[in-house]
Amino acid sequence: MSVKDAVLSQLLKDRGAYRSGEELAEALSVSRSAVWKAVRQLRAEGHPIEASTRLGYRLTGGDVLSREGILAALTSTDYDIHVYQSVPSTNPLLKSWAEEGAAEGCVAVAEEQTAGRGRRGRSFYSPKGTGLYLSILLRPKQHAEAALQITTAAAVATAEAIEQVSGLPCEIKWVNDIYRDGKKLCGILTEASLDVESGGLNYAILGIGINALPPAGGFPPELRGIAGSVFEGRGEADLRCRLAAALLDRFAGYYRELGSERCFEEYRRRSLVLGKRVTVFSGGEAQGEAQVLELERDYSLRVRWDDGLESCLNSGEVSVHP
Ligand code: BTN
Repeated sequence: MSVKDAVLSQLLKDRGAYRSGEELAEALSVSRSAVWKAVRQLRAEGHPIEASTRLGYRLTGGDVLSREGILAALTSTDYDIHVYQSVPSTNPLLKSWAEEGAAEGCVAVAEEQTAGRGRRGRSFYSPKGTGLYLSILLRPKQHAEAALQITTAAAVATAEAIEQVSGLPCEIKWVNDIYRDGKKLCGILTEASLDVESGGLNYAILGIGINALPPAGGFPPELRGIAGSVFEGRGEADLRCRLAAALLDRFAGYYRELGSERCFEEYRRRSLVLGKRVTVFSGGEAQGEAQVLELERDYSLRVRWDDGLESCLNSGEVSVHP
């Protein structure tokens, strides 16, 4: 661990309390000037560190994404976390690691994505400093259907994490968008590599994008009225680090019991579409209007079309009527 990361870890341990330069230097077995250099580097990265000649250093708030910040709030030991300032997209980044043989549990987190990817070839708006964009490399020893269970487990874990950190409930719109008050807070994109011979998964990349705070200047016009954020006002200290940790911890639990009844029940309980009238889309084309009757155990959606016929939707998207 670099001196910079070690100093950050120490300041995070007792957030808000002063730690003298001497004490930090001793704890880390480095010189006081090395501590001061680390503080300057951390400040340059945006960490608000107050310095007092008499008392030392302390973190005064801020919400900078960092590996140390996430680890400070994380319980699970299943992950190897890497934080980036800016990447095109965390999903292909992890895909390249997966192809090179990286282990399950590698996580890439970014402050910003310049080419964020959404489902069905869409882009995912990923501005700097207000979102949480992360991808997890998974190597489930299961059939290809596990990809859907990964996505649904991630939806439940993310909804729970958002609730834990914000104290406000949220819902899941089939299959894997998280909503609150009719606004989308989070999207999930799972990309899998299949082993054609065995029918199993070589690996899956689970990508999760959360709008934690309103972007500076607001959402672009095409997203206004559609996208919302977990916190509407100013964020709290370490908001995104705590959100990332809560999400990773909760997902670890559901991933261990992939396909579980517990996950299904939690998903169903949070369903935004059950009992609602919807328009069904396939390949971007509206297929008709229907009433949602039930969520089946395989996460397909049983609907009654307006002509009275019933069917189960395995893929596609629905938009809920007001
Ligand atoms: C969607 O709503 O269509 C899915 C959005 C998925 C966004 C996440 S952010 C982290 C990962 N990297 C990407 O480029 N996309 C996913």
